[in-house]
Amino acid sequence: MAEKKDPFHVLIIGSGMVVILVTLRPAINDDLYYVEQEGISYAIYESEPSATTYRPREWGMSVQWGLPMLADCLPKELFDRIYTAAVDPNFEPPDPGILPTYNGETGELMKNIPLLRMYRVSRRRFRKLCSEGIDVQYNKTFTEVTYDDDNSTVTAVFQDGSQATGNLLIGADGVKSKVRESIFGEEGQALSVPYSAVNLHVCYNDADKARFVRQGHPIMTMGMHPNGYWQWISIQEVPDPDNPATWVFQLQTTWHRKEGEQVDSLANLKAKAETMGEPFRSANLWIPEGTKVYSNNLSYWIPRPWDTHKGRVLLAGDAAHPMTFQRGQGLNHGIADSRSLVLKYKNAQEGKTSYEEAAEAYQAEMVDRAGEEVRLSKENTEMLHDWERMANSPIMQRGGHPREQQQSSKP
Ligand SMILES: Cc1cc2nc3c(=O)[nH]c(=O)nc-3n(C[C@H](O)[C@H](O)[C@H](O)COP(=O)(O)OP(=O)(O)OC[C@H]3O[C@@H](n4cnc5c(N)ncnc54)[C@H](O)[C@@H]3O)c2cc1C
Ligand SMILES: *[C@@H]1O[C@H](CO)[C@@H](O)[C@H](O)[C@H]1NC(C)=O
Ligand SMILES: *[C@@H]1O[C@H](CO)[C@@H](O)[C@H](O)[C@H]1NC(C)=O
Ligand SMILES: *[C@@H]1O[C@H](CO)[C@@H](O)[C@H](O)[C@H]1NC(C)=O
Repeated sequence: MAEKKDPFHVLIIGSGMVVILVTLRPAINDDLYYVEQEGISYAIYESEPSATTYRPREWGMSVQWGLPMLADCLPKELFDRIYTAAVDPNFEPPDPGILPTYNGETGELMKNIPLLRMYRVSRRRFRKLCSEGIDVQYNKTFTEVTYDDDNSTVTAVFQDGSQATGNLLIGADGVKSKVRESIFGEEGQALSVPYSAVNLHVCYNDADKARFVRQGHPIMTMGMHPNGYWQWISIQEVPDPDNPATWVFQLQTTWHRKEGEQVDSLANLKAKAETMGEPFRSANLWIPEGTKVYSNNLSYWIPRPWDTHKGRVLLAGDAAHPMTFQRGQGLNHGIADSRSLVLKYKNAQEGKTSYEEAAEAYQAEMVDRAGEEVRLSKENTEMLHDWERMANSPIMQRGGHPREQQQSSKP
C-alpha cells in the first residue's frame, strides 16, 4: 500500500454520457475498485433542472472499439447489463459486424462495410445504466472557474450564485462547453461545417411498413446519394420483437447547407425522399404528419494543449473534442477519455506520479488521440457528401484492415 494521500476532490461539470467519468469510482483490472475509498471523492453538477426532466432528445450511438474500454471502466455488474441499453436488446451483436451501404438514389447495395463487434445503444438508456448509483446535483449551471492562490484548489461558480471547491475540475459539459470557453476564451468556441442535418424518430404503427424499413439490416443501414445526401436508418426501440408495429426507428439525413432553407421541415425532407431509392424513400415518405423533425448543427473543435493551472482543470468528452457524427466516434472517445483518466489518477493515487503529472499525461494522450479523430471525422463528413470522392475512396474500392475499415466507416 502506498502511503495515505491527502483527500482529493473532483468537480465534474455535466452528466451526459461521460457520466462514466465517475468511474473514478470503480474498476480497472479488478484491482482498482472504489478509488473513492482510497481518497478520491467527486461531485457532479448538471444544468438540467432534474433527473426526471433530463434532456429528452434521443438517438442511437454505436459503441465500437470503445466496448472493451467500457468494460474496463464500468463495474462488472453494470457492464454485464449493457445489452439492456442496446437499441434492440434481443439482437446479439455478431463479430465482426457489417454496415450495409447503399446507393441512396437507386437502392442498390454498394458494400457491406465490415465493423468491429459493437452495441448500438440508446443514448437515454445508456446514460441511465452508467449513472446507476451515482449522485448528480441538478439545476447547477456552471458559469466560471477560479484558481485559488494556494495552487492546489479550484472553485466553480454556478448561475445560482453558489460555489464549489475541489482539487480538480473536469469540464464534461458537451459541445457548447462553458469550461472550454473559460479556458480558451473565444478561441474555444466550436466551429461548424456547412451541412444541414435532421434527426427524427418514427413508429409506423404498421407491421408491414416496419418490416420493409428494417429489411436492410436488423440494426442500421446507410445510404449515399449522388445529390450529396447522407442517409441513415436504424432501429431505436423494440418494445415487442414479435410485433413490428411497435418498432421505433431513427432516421437521419444530412446535406449541403443552403441559405434560407427551413431545415426542420417534414415537407422539405419528403421532397428529398422523392429522389431516394428504397428503403430510404418509403422510410421517409411514410413519416406521419406532425412528427417532430429535429435539426442539428455539425460542430467540431480540434483540441490543443492548455494551461491546466497545475493540474486543476481538464476537459473530457464532447467538451474536449466535439466532432461531426457520421463516423460515430464521439462516445467512443468519451469512453477512452474516462479510461485514460482513471489510469492516470490511479498512478497518482499509488504515489507513482503527482496529481499534476497525471493531469498533464491525460491531456497529452487525449489531445493527440481525439485531435486526430476530430480531423478524420470532418474529412469523412465531407467525403460522404461528395459522390465522386466517395465512390473512388479506398473504403468502397477494396477491403483493408478491419480497424481501418471500421474507422473510416460510420456509426
Ligand atoms: C445525431 C448524433 C449521432 C451520434 N452517433 C454517435 C455514434 O454512433 N457513436 C458515437 O460514439 N457517438 C455518436 N454521437 C456522439 C455522442 O452522442 C457524443 O459524443 C456524446 O453524447 C457526448 O457525451 P458528453 O457527455 O461528452 O456530452 P453531452 O451528452 O452533451 O453531455 C453534456 C452535459 O453537460 C450539461 N451541461 C452543459 N452545459 C453545462 C453547464 N454550463 N453547467 C452544467 N452542466 C452543463 C448538459 O446538460 C449535458 O447533460 C452522435 C451524436 C449525435 C448528435
Ligand atoms: C504558486 O505557484 C507559483 C508559480 O509556480 C509560485 O510563484 C507561488 O509561490 C505558489 N504559491 C503557493 C502558495 O505555493
Ligand atoms: C432551479 O434553481 C432556481 C434558482 O437558481 C430555482 O428558482 C428553480 O426553482 C430551481 N428548479 C428546480 C427544478 O429545482
Ligand atoms: C445552429 O447554429 C445556428 C447558428 O450558429 C444557431 O442559431 C442555432 O441555434 C444552432 N442550432 C442548434 C440546434 O444548436
